[in-house]
Amino acid sequence: MTAPSPAEETTGDLEAQVSRRRTFAIISHPDAGKTTLTEKLLLYGGAIHLAGAVKARGAARQVTSDWMELERQRGISITSSVLQFDYAGCRVNLLDTPGHQDFSEDTYRTLVAADSAAMLLDNRKGVEERTRQLFDVCKRRRMPIVTFVNKCDRPGTDPMTLLSDVERELDIQCAPATWPVYRDGNFAGVVDRRSRQVLLFDRATDHGASVAESRAHSLDDPRLREELGAGAVDHLLEELQLLDGAGHPFDRDAFLAGGLTPVYFGSALTNFGVEPFLRDFLSLAPPPLPRDSTVGPIAPTSPGFTGGVFKIQANMDPRHRDRIAFVRIVSGRFEAGMEVRQVRTGKPMRLRSPQQFMARERTAIEEAWPGDVIGVMDRGVLRIGDTLSAGGDLEFQGIPRFPPEHFAQVIPTDPLRRKQLDTGLRELSEEGAAQVFYAQGEAGPAPIVGAVGQLQFDVMLFRLTEEYNAPCRLQPIGYRFPRWVTGPIEAIERAGSAGGRLRLFDAKGKPVLLFESEWAMRWAADHERELTFHQIAP
Ligand code: G4P
Repeated sequence: MTAPSPAEETTGDLEAQVSRRRTFAIISHPDAGKTTLTEKLLLYGGAIHLAGAVKARGAARQVTSDWMELERQRGISITSSVLQFDYAGCRVNLLDTPGHQDFSEDTYRTLVAADSAAMLLDNRKGVEERTRQLFDVCKRRRMPIVTFVNKCDRPGTDPMTLLSDVERELDIQCAPATWPVYRDGNFAGVVDRRSRQVLLFDRATDHGASVAESRAHSLDDPRLREELGAGAVDHLLEELQLLDGAGHPFDRDAFLAGGLTPVYFGSALTNFGVEPFLRDFLSLAPPPLPRDSTVGPIAPTSPGFTGGVFKIQANMDPRHRDRIAFVRIVSGRFEAGMEVRQVRTGKPMRLRSPQQFMARERTAIEEAWPGDVIGVMDRGVLRIGDTLSAGGDLEFQGIPRFPPEHFAQVIPTDPLRRKQLDTGLRELSEEGAAQVFYAQGEAGPAPIVGAVGQLQFDVMLFRLTEEYNAPCRLQPIGYRFPRWVTGPIEAIERAGSAGGRLRLFDAKGKPVLLFESEWAMRWAADHERELTFHQIAP
């Protein structure tokens, strides 16, 4: 056999690198335990040795932060970072999606960069509002989702009821892969339905700071009866029989198309059930997939480097006033300093100082592969949705905008700085940091900004004042429900002049109707027959 040529060697590398990568995000409602679970995944991945490092809170967290001033003032994380670790032969990229007050359009955009998602539910609360919103984005993209029911160490909704609620509320089939096991009413472990092995965990004395030790017993092992009591084992066997008869069997195709979710039970706090979840998740979740482009799907293994910008973070380091563009690599190998083309403008650019992010730490990197996310320095030329390519002239499908949930009028506090304000609003809108609307279809007297989360407003105000020297305040308006509309202009005007509605134009001049209530919006969608209503800009 002859030795492979350098080109063949690279292709071989590329295939191996692609097949071991898993890029995913966790979707959940605040307080379901995302931070705790993330930390435990890092613990099992060997990226941290004792839990408690990521979740620095209060003073400690403020000291470690050198990002935006605003971030320091509020002691929260604005940027979702990317956590990378190795587990069971996989290189895992966990895209961290901000969940609390810091929820913003970025959270949705991050999902666009993921290949799969872990849906985390609180065992008492099931599907909550944020879970549903994030789930909807995943569902639109037909993304595979694995579910982890958390906090099983304390009493919660009966698992059967919880699963049927999830199925009903999200219209997805649930296939339980593990099932909780109790000893004297306390969460003791999980049974793996496929192997019929029961994993019993030893409660560690360090409150889940280190990995949980477990012992495996088969379901008919007499020692299991000794450990759990005969009644508990019989009850478990009954439940499993019920699941075998009535539950959905796992179907890989349905999972990959986002129509079925395998479900795991556990406790991120005590680590019970985290490892079976992580192990199975990585074997079920797909490696980086082809992405649609203007020249057809681009396979991750095609040799030329391509990537898409899904997020831009301004001023992460106030000393340098830099911007970081987050690029999800779609195909080929990325090398530090390589020259690529920004396809939208046709201009070449050299990707200097590429970085990877581990929690709050930045590390310089030399190479990266499809599925990875790199942060590249940007001097204000990149935009969200841009394609970077070292080869062909192709563009990936743009990143969708997501409907704002809050609207406010921008009122300049210094009317002489109106020009700076307009420039600021235009640039923030292009960058994807704000959605700007006008009453007259052009930069009129009363710009209105829309945001997905309240924090996005704070970021806008901060940046308009600090970066554009255009101090202003935001006056919230009583409309929360936007719909883009298409149809005859007279019909749009007529619909927009009815009471309880506001007609605006987005930054591209597309008409949008704002409604005071969801009910009013639905009523209009049913009754304005000449118009088509769109949830996002058509
Ligand atoms: P989030 O990022 O989704 O918002 O949730 P986070 O991990 O911060 O967890 C929210 C709360 O839920 C925390 O309690 C956390 O300890 C608790 N929690 C997370 N996982 C589990 C679990 O498996 N079982 C139980 N019983 N609790 C869990 P807290 O009191 O708000 O904060 P802390 O003082 O414990 O840090």
